Order: sequence, then structure tokens, then C-alpha cells
Amino acid sequence: MSSSADRPTVEGKFYHIMVAPGEVSRYVLLPGDPARSDLIAKTWDEARLIAKHREFTTYTGKYKGVPISVTSTGIGGPSTAIAVEELLRAGADTFIRVGTTGAIQPEIPVGDIVITVAAVRLDGTSKQYIIPEYPAHAHYEVINALVEAAESLGYNYWLGVTASTDSFYLGQGRPGYKNYTQSWSQNLYEDLRRAGVLNFEMESSTIFTLSSIYGARAGTVCAVIANKITNEFMPGSGIDKAIRVANEAVKILYEWDEKKKLYKKKYFYPSLITK
Ligand code: URA
Repeated sequence: MSSSADRPTVEGKFYHIMVAPGEVSRYVLLPGDPARSDLIAKTWDEARLIAKHREFTTYTGKYKGVPISVTSTGIGGPSTAIAVEELLRAGADTFIRVGTTGAIQPEIPVGDIVITVAAVRLDGTSKQYIIPEYPAHAHYEVINALVEAAESLGYNYWLGVTASTDSFYLGQGRPGYKNYTQSWSQNLYEDLRRAGVLNFEMESSTIFTLSSIYGARAGTVCAVIANKITNEFMPGSGIDKAIRVANEAVKILYEWDEKKKLYKKKYFYPSLITK
């Protein structure tokens, strides 16, 4: 693989994630935090560290016999887009973000999980790819696999629209340093809450927009660690559940993909399971 300013590689590895073509499974989990890549890899039957470079920590292994990878994205759109771009070149085509989130609906308790069907594009990165009217939607197969996984594990989950922001503080209605704020920031979460948006996080809109443009599949499951309405914050709560749901969803997608192959179908549909 040749390197150039347009296609930067180092010794055959993609410049930022330091992964070579073929070193990842088609199914890649995407936490934000590099430490969560380590945590996720420990839940598999086998795992091999591929690279730790900047915010990107990648492992490849097997979960219940299914080839699986994880790459951390860092926080926010720019580094997440880099991870998605380079993972696609490395051989991935299915992404599941395994993140943390702040709920903006009063009935969503900290410690539950949210499965995202679409993301409000309050990020900047996806706008460098396509006009803002283009939808940031999760892929229906990934959404269904995440729901199936959450049901089979008996977890309480919430399904709906997420808002992805480029700022954790003012962008999510929190005061900045010295209580700095803006009128739009104070109104933002109330406006979104009234429209039924479930939660805030910072990467899904980028992952969904790029995946949709490039013909890849993507979904998100997040652990609720904060609730803006009840003003709770409990870091770490629900993360074990989000990881289990994401791992199981990969196994389910693998089984559905095998069925699609067997019956020469491009798209999965429910009666394929019993065929
Ligand atoms: N991640 C976010 O982006 N917001 C929160 O409130 C919690 C996690």
C-alpha cells in the first residue's frame, strides 16, 4: 500500500489508527474511551491487541466464535470520522458505538441503556461531508440486533432519537467556566426534550452520516450515566450492560448475515430467521 498526502499510511498501516488492511473484523465496536476498548476485549473468548495510537486502541478477537474488533474513537466528531474512514479501508463494514450518554427525559433512569434510531446532527464534522438536511440514521439491521440483544439479556432499554453535539458543556445546556452561557444553550435541551429526543452524546451523528454515505451499517447503544432533568450523574453505571448488548448484537448480526448469504438476500427481514 503506497503512502501519499491524500492517502497517508506508515509501514502499510493507516496513519491514525495504525491498523493494516485485514487486521479488523467486519464488525467493529466503537467506544469513545481507549480504556473501554481494553474492557470490551476482556469480555471476549480471545482478543489480540492490534494497535494503541493516540486515542485509538484496537483489538481483534472472537466473541462466541464470531470475529469481532473494537476501536476507540476519542471524544467527538473529528477523531470519530478518522476512525470510521480508516476502519472502512481496513475492512470494516458494520459499526456499533458503545458509549455513555446523558438523558434529557425525566423517566430515563441512570444505569439504563439507550438504543439510538437516528441522531440530531449538532456536530460539525458530518457537515463537512454532506448538507445538514441529510439524515443521520442508524441501520435497521443494527437497530434490530441491538433490540434483540437487549431483550434476550432482559435489560430495560429506551429506543429513539439522540442528539449528538460537539460540546459537552454549552452544547449540552451545561454552564461553561465561570457560569458562562448563551441563551440558545439554556433553551436547547428543553426544546429537544419537548420534541421527544432521549439523550445527548457526541459521536453517533458522525458515525451514522459517514456509514450511510459509504454504504456501511451502524448503530449505537449507550449507558445512561447522567440525567439532565433529575440532575443525577453516576459515571460507570450501565456500561457493563451496553457492552453485553453490543457483543450479543454482533453475534446476532453475524447469524442474520449468514442467513442472507444462504438465501442470496441483500436485506434481512424477520421471516428469514425461521426459513
Ligand atoms: N456523554 C455526553 O456526551 N453527555 C453526558 O451527559 C454524558 C455522557
